[in-house]
Amino acid sequence: MKKKIPLSIPDLKGDIKKYLNKAINENWVSSAAPGVKKFEQEVAKIAKCKYAIATITGSAALHLALKTLKIGKRDKVIVPDFTFAATINAVELSGAEPVIVDIGENDWNLDIKLLEKAILKVKPAAVIVVHTLGHPADMKSLLKLKKKYKFKIIEDAAGAMGAEYLKKRVGCMADLGIFSFNGNKVLTTGSGGALLINSITLLRRANILSKQGKTNADYKYICSGYNYKMSNINASLGYAQIKLFNQTLKEKLKIAKIYDFAFKNIDKFSVMPRNKNVKSSCWLYSLKMSSKKEAKSLINYLKKRNIEARFFWVNLSSQKPYKKYNCFSNGIARKLSEKIISLPSSTNLSQKEQMLVIKSIFNWIQKK
Ligand SMILES: Cc1ncc(COP(=O)(O)O)c(C=O)c1O
Repeated sequence: MKKKIPLSIPDLKGDIKKYLNKAINENWVSSAAPGVKKFEQEVAKIAKCKYAIATITGSAALHLALKTLKIGKRDKVIVPDFTFAATINAVELSGAEPVIVDIGENDWNLDIKLLEKAILKVKPAAVIVVHTLGHPADMKSLLKLKKKYKFKIIEDAAGAMGAEYLKKRVGCMADLGIFSFNGNKVLTTGSGGALLINSITLLRRANILSKQGKTNADYKYICSGYNYKMSNINASLGYAQIKLFNQTLKEKLKIAKIYDFAFKNIDKFSVMPRNKNVKSSCWLYSLKMSSKKEAKSLINYLKKRNIEARFFWVNLSSQKPYKKYNCFSNGIARKLSEKIISLPSSTNLSQKEQMLVIKSIFNWIQKK
C-alpha cells in the first residue's frame, strides 16, 4: 500500500526538542512561564500588531475577543454564513445573538453589500469577519462601514496567519483578531490560538479575563473570567517554529502556485478565488466543483489512490443548531456548500507527492 498523502498535517520544524526540553528541564510548563511571553511577542511580530495573548485554542481567543469588547446579552454580532462553527459558537457563548450574513462569489468572504443591509437592519455591536481559507476579506470596505455605522470588528484569521491585505498583515487591522494554531493550521502548537491586540486598554482587559479575572496570584477577582492562557508546552512548540514562519509561508504559497499552474486550463472545476491586492496564506488549496456529485466522485477517486481530499465548510444557516438565527442570504454559501473540496496542502508535501495528486486529478478528468 502506498503511503497516504494527507490533507494538512503538522510540519514541525526548528529546534522543537530544544525548547520543549528547556521547558521541562526548567520545570516551567504552565502558562505563567516566560516562554509563553516570548512566543506572544513573536506572534505579535508576525501579525504586525502591538500585543498578542496566546490562548488554549483559536475558539477560546474568539470568545475572549468578544468578552474583551464587552459584548454579551442584548448585543447582536454578525458572522458569515460560510465559516467554521467556532465563529458562531463563540458568539453564542458570549450571550450575544448571532446574525448570519452571506458571502460573495469573488472571494468567499462576507458580501459587503448584503452586510450593509444587515447592519442597517440589526445594528450589530460587532462583525466577525473570517478570512476564508486564508484569503483576506475586503477590509477597506469593512473599515468604511465601521466608520459609518460604529461597530466593532473582530478578524477571525484562524487560517490566515501571514496573509496580507494591501501589503498589511491581516489579523488586527481593526479592533481585535485571532489566529488558530491547531494541528491543521499554517503554524501549529498542537492546540492553541492567539488574540491579537493593538490597544493597551484592551490588552489589560483581555489579560485579566484570560486568567479567571485575576491580576496576580492572589485569590482576588476583578471580574468573572476564564482559564484561557496557553501552556508553555504548547508555546515552546510554537516558539521553535515561528522563527521559520516566513519560510513556512513561502512553502504554502509554492504549493498553491503549483496547483494554480496545473489547473489553469481546466474547465471541469475552478480553483479558489482570491481578491486582487491581497496575499493569501493559502491555508487549504481548494477547488469548486460543478456539483456535489462531482465533488464526491473526485474525493472517492483520490481516496482509492490513498490521497486525502475533503469537503470544505457547509454553510451554517442550513444546519440545525443555527437555523433559528436571522440570516441575510443571497444563496451563495448554500450553493458552495458540499461543492468545495480541499486538496493536500501540508508544507511537508513533497513535489513528487503533489505531482501524484495532480496526475490523479487529470486521470479522473479523463475517465469522466
Ligand atoms: C475560521 C475558523 N475560526 C476558528 C477556528 C477555531 O480554531 P481552534 O480549532 O484553534 O479552536 C477555526 C479552526 O479551524 C477556523 O477555521
